[in-house]
Amino acid sequence: MDQPSFQLTRGDAVTWLRTLPAASVDLVITDPPYESLEKHRAIGTTTRLKHSKASSNDWFSIFPNSRFPELFAEVYRVLKKDTHFYLFCDPETMFVAKPLAEEAGFKFWKPIIWDKRNIGMGYHYRARYECILFFEKGKRKLEDLGVADIIEAKRINGGYPAEKPPEVSEVLIKQSTTAGELVIDPFMGSGSVGLAAIRNGRDFLGNDLCVEAIDITKTRLLDAGGRDAARGVKPDSAPQLGLTL
Ligand SMILES: C[S@@+](CC[C@H](N)C(=O)[O-])C[C@H]1O[C@@H](n2cnc3c(N)ncnc32)[C@H](O)[C@@H]1O
Repeated sequence: MDQPSFQLTRGDAVTWLRTLPAASVDLVITDPPYESLEKHRAIGTTTRLKHSKASSNDWFSIFPNSRFPELFAEVYRVLKKDTHFYLFCDPETMFVAKPLAEEAGFKFWKPIIWDKRNIGMGYHYRARYECILFFEKGKRKLEDLGVADIIEAKRINGGYPAEKPPEVSEVLIKQSTTAGELVIDPFMGSGSVGLAAIRNGRDFLGNDLCVEAIDITKTRLLDAGGRDAARGVKPDSAPQLGLTL
């Protein structure tokens, strides 16, 4: 198996997607910071980003629901024919995101459930699961038709805000790509999707607004045996887009 490669970029997700050629990507898995987070932050039922010199905010900025149409249009454009798109989504935002992704051209199959195995914060039914919306462009058969629509993996406590266990993305990547194919994540955070891709011999392109995300992901992907395809280009020197970080 060839050494899988990765390339990381710092910028706005939609602006970054616009730089990628049409029909060039085999799989998109992503996890935007939904505006519903604001509500949970306000009542203190979600985790906070540690303050650091590298970021001027205690929390990463949210991606407003009003930007879904431009995001889904770009995700659809960059995907090859006969591919899949997985969108991590809270149970509130999925009712907004699903019809807008369909308008962009995707077929919606079903929400896949990530079962975190134990309950989280909250004041009524305590959250134990998250949804992953499963979309298709064209027609692609899953690699293993015996895999369940509930993926069990323990939540990560004390990591990057909203960090996902790479084991969840590993299931999705194995189901929807073959070795050597290209996986991307426009809101990569700590790079859990990238880690799952590299561990399974897939190439990865990742992007995030936050400089800490680039640093953390780069270290993790190098440690996993990935080859930095942009060696010599410092992530911090990537073009700035005039956004508050
Ligand atoms: C929910 S987190 C992703 C967590 C990731 N799945 C993980 O496992 O670590 C969302 C990420 O989106 C980034 N972000 C916020 N607004 C963005 C934008 N407009 N474009 C790109 N990234 C953005 C944040 O910096 C944050 O790292």
